[in-house]
Amino acid sequence: MPIEWNAETRELHLFNGEMSYLLCLFASGHLGHLYFGGPLAAGRRYRHLQPHDLETFDNGATDGLGFEYPTHGSGDFRAPALALDLADGSPALDLIYAGHRILAGKAPLAGLPATYVERAAEADTLEVDLRDGPSGAEVVLSYTIFRDHAALCRSARVRNAGASPLTVRCAMSASLDLDGGPWDMLQLSGRWAHERQLVGRRVVQGSQSIESRRGASSHQQNPFVALERPGATEETGEAYGFSLVYSGNFLADVEADGAGTTRVRIGINPAGFSWRLEAGAELQLPEAVLVRSDRGRGGLSDAYHRLYRSRLARGAWRDRPRPVLINNWEGPYFGFSEAKLLEMGEVARELGIELFVLDDGWFGERDSDTTSLGDWTVDRRKLPGGLDGLARQIEALGMKFGLWIEPEMVSPKSRLFAQHPEWAIAAPGRRRTQIRNQYVLDLSRPDVVEWMHDTISRVLASAPLSYVKWDMNRSITEPFGGLLPADRQGEFFHRYMLGVYSVYERVTARFPEILFESCAGGGGRFDPGLLAYAPQAWTSDDSDAIERLGIQWGTSLVYPPSSMGAHVSAVPNHQVGRVTPLATRAAVAFFGVFGYELDPTALSADERAAIAVQIAFYKQHRDLLQAGRFLRLIGPAGGDGDGNETAWMCVSDDRRRAIVGFYRVLQRPAAPAGRLRLRGLDPAAVYRVSTWPDDGDPVDRANAGARGGDELMRAGLLLAAERGHGTRRGDFWSRLFVLEAGDAEPWPPSP
Ligand code: DGJ
Repeated sequence: MPIEWNAETRELHLFNGEMSYLLCLFASGHLGHLYFGGPLAAGRRYRHLQPHDLETFDNGATDGLGFEYPTHGSGDFRAPALALDLADGSPALDLIYAGHRILAGKAPLAGLPATYVERAAEADTLEVDLRDGPSGAEVVLSYTIFRDHAALCRSARVRNAGASPLTVRCAMSASLDLDGGPWDMLQLSGRWAHERQLVGRRVVQGSQSIESRRGASSHQQNPFVALERPGATEETGEAYGFSLVYSGNFLADVEADGAGTTRVRIGINPAGFSWRLEAGAELQLPEAVLVRSDRGRGGLSDAYHRLYRSRLARGAWRDRPRPVLINNWEGPYFGFSEAKLLEMGEVARELGIELFVLDDGWFGERDSDTTSLGDWTVDRRKLPGGLDGLARQIEALGMKFGLWIEPEMVSPKSRLFAQHPEWAIAAPGRRRTQIRNQYVLDLSRPDVVEWMHDTISRVLASAPLSYVKWDMNRSITEPFGGLLPADRQGEFFHRYMLGVYSVYERVTARFPEILFESCAGGGGRFDPGLLAYAPQAWTSDDSDAIERLGIQWGTSLVYPPSSMGAHVSAVPNHQVGRVTPLATRAAVAFFGVFGYELDPTALSADERAAIAVQIAFYKQHRDLLQAGRFLRLIGPAGGDGDGNETAWMCVSDDRRRAIVGFYRVLQRPAAPAGRLRLRGLDPAAVYRVSTWPDDGDPVDRANAGARGGDELMRAGLLLAAERGHGTRRGDFWSRLFVLEAGDAEPWPPSP
């Protein structure tokens, strides 16, 4: 069992082949942190790693000490993991060890998404009980260590075992005291249509944090931070990742105290949060997933991708190849008819598309975004045969049918709002702010949650649906739970998320064959919480290939390609007006869950022919592109390049196959030729290299043929083969390199 308790030295050691995590009990009874790093041998003592003991907090004894779940008010002056309002009004808390259990497997988290095991033998869980005597507040800290994943999952439950009510003001999922650094902090930041750009900064004394207060994890910040040693790269250096399995308001905070510790905390955002715990009540906190790597950012990504793909994503679609889809949104937008959709469907089917997705505008009288959210009955003006009629005709063409919904919203102009104005979130006596002409339904109310569940279920049962895109297009303002008393209003945002999760949980269980894709105005809720229900998410509303380089690069730090919806759209691009080659648009979108978002009837014959080839290529390599190991090579941000070039690759688990994507934004005169060094290959294997598209660029011929894995990783692929190579390529040039290891060596030498 990879969790050891040494009663003599009062230390707990969690370990697997990738990491060790050590806790200790101080003489005072506080739970201390000893070590989180590369694996240390089992059966040994490590208590000396914390040379000071803590008997009391007298005389500032906490300097340099690490705690597992710190509180404020006794002598630790750094930011706390837990802060409560106690019945006597004092904020002082002292959480003292009261026992622990080591359990096989991993239990689900009540009401919240989390990683899981399929067999108890996959992981062990440590639960530590902490108690604050005077108040009766209790915390159960949970630590799960997987045998085969370089990840440690932490969560906590706060319980009121006293007689008087308590109010939770701050309750982190995890707090970790690392050494004083120096550290660099990485975060995934952005805005609408420009999400999850990789941003790094040096940690300085004091607190540096990211957060969301928008009711969703947000376009602006993703619930993730990493700390890495300065100079760490994609391949080298020590790095620690902290990812929160949560889709609402969060805080990730790094505090360097100048005295030898750097505290990282991640959890529900304490801003605007409070939770009243009556005697005997309990609050379950979301899960934080901690990973560490000696192989820089690449190592973090490997760990998150494997875990999130196989033990966070769930359901029938977790491991299935995902269909190539077409979404009508950036085609006719709201202005479609059944005839138009069928015309699009006919062309789509000829191109090899497998799933036809009808986006916004099919219900109520929704000809623009000003009306009808909440009225989930089909608009017979547009679809005289109903959803069922359309779906059956699409199926008759030989494709599956999918549908867009945005069930958390209501339009002021809707029957639902006329009937239930009290269901739209509003603070008493204040005007409701409209964003995108809509309000948010109050999912802290059980009756609204039930309505949403019943309504979605009715829609999903009304037609043969194979896919659902669940959208959410605005942040929450005037937060107020219509059924919550004044002293529970601080619970609103979390209760909203619990409402969303409960509907997702029940609907995905009831319709297990439907593939769900989450969306929030693009990537505004692209987080591990929703990944537990919807194994893929619409990555961004920006479908421009060049913009997508930075977005997919940053997203891939935590999230695997199988989670990233990526579509080819029309040019000029609808978000930025850029005209990029069709081949480049596909070469970027291939490294995600691939599809098209355009009107195929508007394509020229040449474009149709090219798209048919793209789809055939993707289908041929889909297993690799969706489930292979993804490695970033040259980055548009934070990588080794100057931002003009990006490269990444997917490698099969057995390292026999790989596909490399290379992208150059602007061609430059007399640019250095350069080589592209690959990673993750078998150095002893010999690979046959081919290029896509093979359009006569000299680089295609120059790289074609047999190449050793050692050569490809140490010398690299050629990026140019003759002088003046840029002149025929133009801007936004891309190339895919397809590598297949031969059974018999050696391959014939290249011509
Ligand atoms: C925002 C989404 O991100 C888009 O893809 C599209 O579904 C629109 N909403 C529809 O309103």
